[in-house]
Amino acid sequence: MVIVRQVTGWIREAVIYQIYVRSFADADGDGVGDLAGIRSRLDYLASLGVDAIWLTPFYDSPFVDGGYDVADYRSVAEVFGRLEDFDALVADAHRLGLRVIIDLVPNHTSDRHCWFQDALKGRNRDRYIFRDEPNDWQSVFGGPAWTQVADGQWYLHLFAPEQPDLNWQDPAVREEFEQILRFWLDRGVDGFRVDVAHGLVKPEGLPSFGRSGERGNRPYFDQDAVHDIYRSWRAVAGSAALVAEARLRDPARTARYARPGEMDQAFNFQFLWAPWDLGRVREAVAGSLDSMGRVGALPTWVIGNHDEIRAATRYALKNEIEDEEFVGLTVAVANETGLRRARAMALLSLALPGAAYIYQGDELGLPEVVDLPDEVREDPIWHRSGGRQRGRDGCRVPLPWSEQASSYGFGPADGKPTWLPQPETWQGFSVAAQLTDPESTLAMYKKALKLRRRIGSEGLMWLGAPPGVLAFARGNGFACAVNFGESPVPLAGLRLPGPVALLSEPADPAVLPAGAAVWVVAP
Ligand code: GLC
Repeated sequence: MVIVRQVTGWIREAVIYQIYVRSFADADGDGVGDLAGIRSRLDYLASLGVDAIWLTPFYDSPFVDGGYDVADYRSVAEVFGRLEDFDALVADAHRLGLRVIIDLVPNHTSDRHCWFQDALKGRNRDRYIFRDEPNDWQSVFGGPAWTQVADGQWYLHLFAPEQPDLNWQDPAVREEFEQILRFWLDRGVDGFRVDVAHGLVKPEGLPSFGRSGERGNRPYFDQDAVHDIYRSWRAVAGSAALVAEARLRDPARTARYARPGEMDQAFNFQFLWAPWDLGRVREAVAGSLDSMGRVGALPTWVIGNHDEIRAATRYALKNEIEDEEFVGLTVAVANETGLRRARAMALLSLALPGAAYIYQGDELGLPEVVDLPDEVREDPIWHRSGGRQRGRDGCRVPLPWSEQASSYGFGPADGKPTWLPQPETWQGFSVAAQLTDPESTLAMYKKALKLRRRIGSEGLMWLGAPPGVLAFARGNGFACAVNFGESPVPLAGLRLPGPVALLSEPADPAVLPAGAAVWVVAP
């Protein structure tokens, strides 16, 4: 049965631009991005044509996990500014017609949070998960998920030891987060991206994995009871958007987070994790449309975020992302093939029914930075794996804005070096360089975001296409085709319902090159 949704939130078909705050723009010259920097670049985002921005955590934090270790949920970290800067940013964004989503981190706090400091002193330990004996759970970042404290008890941390998991069975935790939601709603935010949304409720009795937990199967995620929390948040959030970060492969399980009365949408990890392969991409598209349709929601389309290898590098990788393959990759080859495919995937993701997310810098076609010196790496995955896994710093390098040498305009000319070094070859990727090039990745994104407004209905109809090509039509004479094959395909043979409106790369208008996507719009 298809349930018709009563609420049609603003986010349903929005385009949301993800800002990784530390790496977007630095106004005060300390080498780290900040809220004033974002404010100074809002015009760029408005002219790009997105509907909303999502800010990654900007709260007070010791930054063991880039701010996903929150010490005070009602604050702005000094390095990013002050609460007044946040208010000014929201006001300016709203004036430009941009909505603002913030990141909420409810699965764990920082170990510096006053609650955890209290718990260490033996006060209110029920707010966290303390036990006399640990079980065999492993942390997502590697190593055991338990750490022992001075008096002999152990506490659970699904991520780093500095990120103790909260105990969502304790009513004080529930009450606190409802208050935190209200605090930011009162400051005018339009929605929340909920970090590790599938992790809050742990299985009864915290049973050991046994062998089943060894390979990706983590029974501490996606417990049914977690949904009760989101039903109560819906009542608090009203019409503000709630977006689940639930890293699940199964689209049916993912869709449960977007059921009526819960969240609005969930990130589409099946689509994000699909390699450049027609079968896998089509399966992800069809599977998520079907599963979300069953709960009356629309999918999201995501090709990058601050946790994944940059799209312009990742789509050159053969299959599942194996670290060894990545290490052995010839960067030049990856960048050329990867960028071409990333542009095609961007056009695909912006053509599908639902919301689309753009990770900062993907609109510039930035590649993964694979050669960061070890000593600058910050990701706890790098440190906890003893350097075996390179971690996520390579997709978090500060953005290049101008062609000038000093931080490419990320910060003021006399500013400190950027917190992660930018490659010497990024001049051509800069916003300034791409703004003047009609064939740049940025120019393609801008055209796509403008044309996207003309796409008709919420539905999608698959079109017959030659082997290797994925093609579908939407309302208003719009259609999209992607050539996953190895050779060009004559466009006439595709019988698309209109003239070419946009191609993901410069080409003879009569063909769809290998690794390219096309949009057509009937006049
Ligand atoms: C989410 C975030 C990631 C963070 C983790 C722990 O997956 O996207 O960056 O490390 O949660 O909070």
